[in-house]
Amino acid sequence: MTTAVSVGTLPSGFVLQVITACPPKDRDALAPTVAKLEKKIFPSSEAFDYSVELKKKNIGLILASREGNQELVGYLVFQRQKGLAWLHKLAVIEQERGKGIARCLVNSLCQQMKKGGCRTIVLWVEEARNPARALYASCGFEQIERLADYYGPGRTALKMELAMVEN
Ligand SMILES: CC(C)(COP(=O)(O)OP(=O)(O)OC[C@H]1O[C@@H](n2cnc3c(N)ncnc32)[C@H](O)[C@@H]1OP(=O)(O)O)[C@@H](O)C(=O)NCCC(=O)NCCS
Repeated sequence: MTTAVSVGTLPSGFVLQVITACPPKDRDALAPTVAKLEKKIFPSSEAFDYSVELKKKNIGLILASREGNQELVGYLVFQRQKGLAWLHKLAVIEQERGKGIARCLVNSLCQQMKKGGCRTIVLWVEEARNPARALYASCGFEQIERLADYYGPGRTALKMELAMVEN
């Protein structure tokens, strides 16, 4: 299922789309597009195979695109597991950073998960990723675990959790 969502503060000229169950015809087009963006931002050792991931029923994507030409500028990958959701990936292309797009992606995930009765979001983030850690902290995530060498020698991971409250 694909839904256009409103999360308030997305800068003008961009749209968000939540994809919770990607139909095969859309998946074939979407998988290489997301993979291409991911390749520019994350090490290849951390790449997902989206042609496989998007087939899973509990995997969802939130996409930020330019209005009009629909160029993908950011994405968030999540996985729903009973009462909690994992935030697996989040990225915004370099030229569009600092505009609040990632915050909108996270807000949109919170909105979706609350609607579905999910109260906790968890994630792993590399300690060295300061902008991401600042973003998560500003969204209310708290560090609950620290694992040295999780991503490889010298690359520490932090586990963060957001316990969502009722509005
Ligand atoms: C982390 C990332 C997704 C942030 O995207 P973004 O769209 O630029 O973030 P936003 O503009 O929504 O910023 C929201 C908040 O995050 C924090 N933040 C974002 N970038 C920051 C930076 N470079 N330095 C410090 N804080 C930063 C701030 O608190 C900011 O709020 P503010 O603008 O009111 O100060 C982006 O830098 C990115 O794609 N990085 C590479 C991939 C990555 O590290 N992903 C996360 C690990 S899975």
